Amino acid sequence: MTSAFNPEQYKITTRAQWEDAAEAWHRWGPVIEDWLADATERMLDAARVTGGSRVLDVAAGAGGQSIAAARRAGAGGYVLATDISPTILEYASKAASNAGLSTIATQELDGERLDVEEGGFDAVISRVGLIYFPDQQAALSGMLRALRPGGRLSAVVYSTADRNGFFAIPVGIIRRRAQLPPPVAGQPGPFSLGAPGVVEAALVAAGFRDVAVETVPSPVRMASSADCVAFERESFGALHQMLSGLSESDREDAWRDRPGPRPVAGRVCRPVRDARRVRRSVMRNGSVGTAVRAPELPSRLPRPVTLAIWRAAPTGSEIRSVPSTTSRARPSGGSTSRSSERPESASPP
Ligand SMILES: C[S@@+](CC[C@H](N)C(=O)[O-])C[C@H]1O[C@@H](n2cnc3c(N)ncnc32)[C@H](O)[C@@H]1O
Repeated sequence: MTSAFNPEQYKITTRAQWEDAAEAWHRWGPVIEDWLADATERMLDAARVTGGSRVLDVAAGAGGQSIAAARRAGAGGYVLATDISPTILEYASKAASNAGLSTIATQELDGERLDVEEGGFDAVISRVGLIYFPDQQAALSGMLRALRPGGRLSAVVYSTADRNGFFAIPVGIIRRRAQLPPPVAGQPGPFSLGAPGVVEAALVAAGFRDVAVETVPSPVRMASSADCVAFERESFGALHQMLSGLSESDREDAWRDRPGPRPVAGRVCRPVRDARRVRRSVMRNGSVGTAVRAPELPSRLPRPVTLAIWRAAPTGSEIRSVPSTTSRARPSGGSTSRSSERPESASPP
């Protein structure tokens, strides 16, 4: 595919693909909440979500982090869970009522057009959502507008592709199969905010200050590589979107593809049997169709996502007059992938 990136078309496809993937994202919820549990807690800490907080959740999906925020905010708090997909928000709404939480409301909203009360929120959160927005500056400006002076924005984004092989390798395979152009900086995708300095610059450009970025190890723990492939195949809207230009049979073929060189025989897709090994079963070289279990690889470093913590400056000229914007970033360390399938370095869908 050689056509230029079209943000409007991308947004339409994004919505459609998440409408399709909504049920699966909800169904895989327990895996997602285990995978992102630590990052979610750090996100809520950083946003200072506490009793009585009013929280805006952008790209809330099936509501896992909205529920965590509502539990912290308590009976006097309020969480507005927003998303571009109305179907996924229905799952969020049901999950909230099943959890006995009456303080969560949902609203279909494009995260780049946050039509909410100006200054109406103490905290804005977004978990693995902002990365998929074509105009991240528009989204960040809207989030800043939604925050009261001194409010805080906190979001979870992926770090770099080499630290997220379970996702980057499938993306690389699909990109090759679908003949998608190479990733371009500034376009949306899972690793669009992962490179050192990128998210900090985006936040400062949007008017935030006191920017801090923290890396949170977030291993994907599953009983088998086949489960991991099923999880991604069913519920990752970004992968659906990348495959959308292929015929049904080419899509099937893509899911059977694997990174080269082939993993050593006997190391592929075997279930991890005992509980101790399940706990350590980080899906290190998760690929489309094939994955290698962590215990057989030399390094067991968990895979991080980057947790970016941003505090909104008070509104007005003070934003521009604060010269001492702080930025703290912890690099995520070296690669853990052994595959020669080139993972993404930045990534449009
Ligand atoms: C990977 S899911 C994350 C969902 C949820 N935050 C979680 O962590 O479970 C990405 C979500 O971003 C939403 N999304 C993508 N583009 C969006 C946009 N422009 N505005 C609002 N939501 C968007 C999708 O509909 C999807 O629910």
